[in-house]
Amino acid sequence: MIGILVGTRPEIIKVAPVIRELDARKHRYILIHSNQHYSKSMDEDILNDLKIKNPDYNLRVGSASHAVQTGSIMEKLEPICQKEKISLLLVHGDTNTTLAGALTAKKLHISVGHIEAGLRSFDYQMPEEINRILVDRISDILLAPTATAQANLKKEGLTKNVYVTGNTVVDALKQHIVLSKNSNILKKAELEEGEYILVTAHRAESVDSELRLLRLISLLEHAGDKTKKKIAWVLHPRTKARLTSFNLLKKVSNSSFTILNPIGYIDMLHLMNKAFMILTDSGGVQEEAYILQKPLCTLRSSTERPETLSANRIIDLDAQAFDTALSDIKDRKYSWSDAFGFGSAATSIVDALENYMEQNL
Ligand code: UD1
Repeated sequence: MIGILVGTRPEIIKVAPVIRELDARKHRYILIHSNQHYSKSMDEDILNDLKIKNPDYNLRVGSASHAVQTGSIMEKLEPICQKEKISLLLVHGDTNTTLAGALTAKKLHISVGHIEAGLRSFDYQMPEEINRILVDRISDILLAPTATAQANLKKEGLTKNVYVTGNTVVDALKQHIVLSKNSNILKKAELEEGEYILVTAHRAESVDSELRLLRLISLLEHAGDKTKKKIAWVLHPRTKARLTSFNLLKKVSNSSFTILNPIGYIDMLHLMNKAFMILTDSGGVQEEAYILQKPLCTLRSSTERPETLSANRIIDLDAQAFDTALSDIKDRKYSWSDAFGFGSAATSIVDALENYMEQNL
């Protein structure tokens, strides 16, 4: 039996095309949700948008420290793997759910398939980087989205059962972009096409320090002044919690900011597609912006998505670097390619899984 483990909003979005492909080929599988993300907007609304069936198991772990969250997922997942006789567990990306799933499975001698294997930021302060390295090291099937990811794996000596599949983010986007045309999010948020800069920032290293949050707000004010565009900031729950606890919400409650609570996937696609440009610290949004050919700046000092660099400037929180990026956009120095594939990643992934299962299980 195949097990599929998801836990956070991006995992649900990017695993959905694989679930559809498994359904199309009539494979049996058990869908397990750790519920690392549990707020309606991060969980139920996304499942509904993507028309994914209710998970067979919900571990209801919620938020906690890294150790508690990871440990709690492992403890609850183990008996399910045993009861359902799971022989192959699929995990995705770099979250605590991903690490907990891979560790639990391996210790039960269950094969692990890692979707989005081989990404590296080389920033060991990021919890996600630790998760990626550990999960790749113990996975049996490494589903690398790009040749760059495959090369990273090779440098670490990982060459067995590595498949370059494309990224399922393209599949998901292609499957849903048409629906996004009916979104009324611009009207609801009082935004006009091309007249706003879309912002997302949620990583612990971006928002957990008051000083960095203040610097981020200054950069956004600068970007708004310089471009004369509105700043449309979609707040992740972590960011909202930090802005509230540092008493900074009032600093962004003025006419140049439009603050939005987390929105569904379809509305988010629309908001990205109609933005003047995008500023983000998210990996998934970097990919989506690139696929939608939107000028992009990353609010970090590194990226694990170097494929985006022809149209992505790594500006951290530096106003001067933002200005240089803006000149590059005006001078048409941004360019895009099909680095993440053509929307057939799920087909390649399921082909690889079938091949592995035929030979090993
Ligand atoms: C997690 C992943 C990150 C991924 C992100 C996508 C890890 C280490 N990090 O980060 O890689 O990019 O998901 O969004 O696994 N919260 C809610 N409701 C929710 C979820 C979170 O209110 O549904 C708030 C809580 O205050 C919580 C905080 O956000 O403490 C952080 O949540 P957590 O799941 O620990 O990590 P994310 O920041 O979401």
